[in-house]
Amino acid sequence: MTLTVDRPVAADVPAYDVARVRRDFPILATRMNDRPLVYLDTAASAQKPAIVIDTLKRFYEQDYANIHRGVYDLSQRATAADDAARRKVQRFLGAADWREIVFTRNATEAINLVAASFLRPRLQAGDEVLVTEMEHHANIVPWQLAADAVGAKVVAAPVSDTGELSLDAFVDRITPRTRMIAVAWVSNVLGTVNPVHELVRIAHARDIPILIDAAQAVQHIPVDVQDLDADFLVFSGHKLYGPSGVGVLYGKATHLEAMPPYQGGGDMIDRVSFAGTTWNEIPFKFEAGTPDIAGIVALGAAIDYVEALGLEAIAAHESEVLAYATRAINQLPGVRIIGTAREKCSVLTFAMEGVHPQDIGALLDLDGIAVRTGHHCAMPLHERFGLAASARASIGLYTTHEDIDAFVASLRRVGEMLQ
Ligand code: ALA
Repeated sequence: MTLTVDRPVAADVPAYDVARVRRDFPILATRMNDRPLVYLDTAASAQKPAIVIDTLKRFYEQDYANIHRGVYDLSQRATAADDAARRKVQRFLGAADWREIVFTRNATEAINLVAASFLRPRLQAGDEVLVTEMEHHANIVPWQLAADAVGAKVVAAPVSDTGELSLDAFVDRITPRTRMIAVAWVSNVLGTVNPVHELVRIAHARDIPILIDAAQAVQHIPVDVQDLDADFLVFSGHKLYGPSGVGVLYGKATHLEAMPPYQGGGDMIDRVSFAGTTWNEIPFKFEAGTPDIAGIVALGAAIDYVEALGLEAIAAHESEVLAYATRAINQLPGVRIIGTAREKCSVLTFAMEGVHPQDIGALLDLDGIAVRTGHHCAMPLHERFGLAASARASIGLYTTHEDIDAFVASLRRVGEMLQ
């Protein structure tokens, strides 16, 4: 499913009570600079519902111990909670096997794991990794590290002026030396929803493995990894209304089993001796050291929360708010939206003629409005659009028309003051 800005809300989408949803998020009652907080930086990190905060507190107060290490009851309870969270992620992604779910610190670490453990051993001088111009640095730099180590290179498929991929141009960049493809499902700057099912088909028709960066997708679009058939998919818990410090790598079991460990330490081993060490089964082979146990359990609570609201209902709400915001921003003089793809969700990146994005961010903050400014960890994309930086408002499941009205009114004042 993808979102179109102008798509009408389907009649069968359940009524979405955003005022009630907002009451689930304690921080939204905060005042900033004596104004109600208007949080429009959800793409950077989402705010947390009370159920996630309470789960963390309750887990530390009642169930906390290290996992996989104790025969005592508390450790068994913590281990069971960790297992239950892994199965929730498995179900959330539609994975066939819980062993295909690896907990990492975030999507960035998950991509580094694949680049180092899966790609690097099969990469030779002259080989290529294909990404796109719209990737987050997390989906560029890990591949560069692997490529630089052997004299391979990272190649980028171009993005159009509207912020879309051309499938023909994408295919043109694939060569007999392409060893890996890695693409964002949703661009964190443009909001473009990429045709990932088609990209997976293109990759697999040429026997090339593909990783999907779903960091900006899982909170908006239902995922079924078996239907998608990507070799790897990654996301971060904190963008899915869960805690920071927990991420997920989904990988096909056949790949994970064949890959060497990424990091060494406790829990990832079967047997250690100075003569040689053997590895634990997947996914534990990739989970060295004590993980963020409470964070993992709270990620499970975040998934429960999002599923109870329903991703379809969330997506319909966000799509409507994005359309409302887009119409309003388009009325402002000298404001240019960066990213006008037909299939788009959740983010509104823009430049204002004659005003530095940093000044926009600082002045909006005086009105209690939080937006992100800078290059949004996507310098090559900004270069593509001839910009050093931009400002970005991003929409979440709690964003209201009132948030957008306050943002647009403040932005109008910034323009009148500085243009
Ligand atoms: N990747 C996050 C963003 O887009 C931090 O803001």
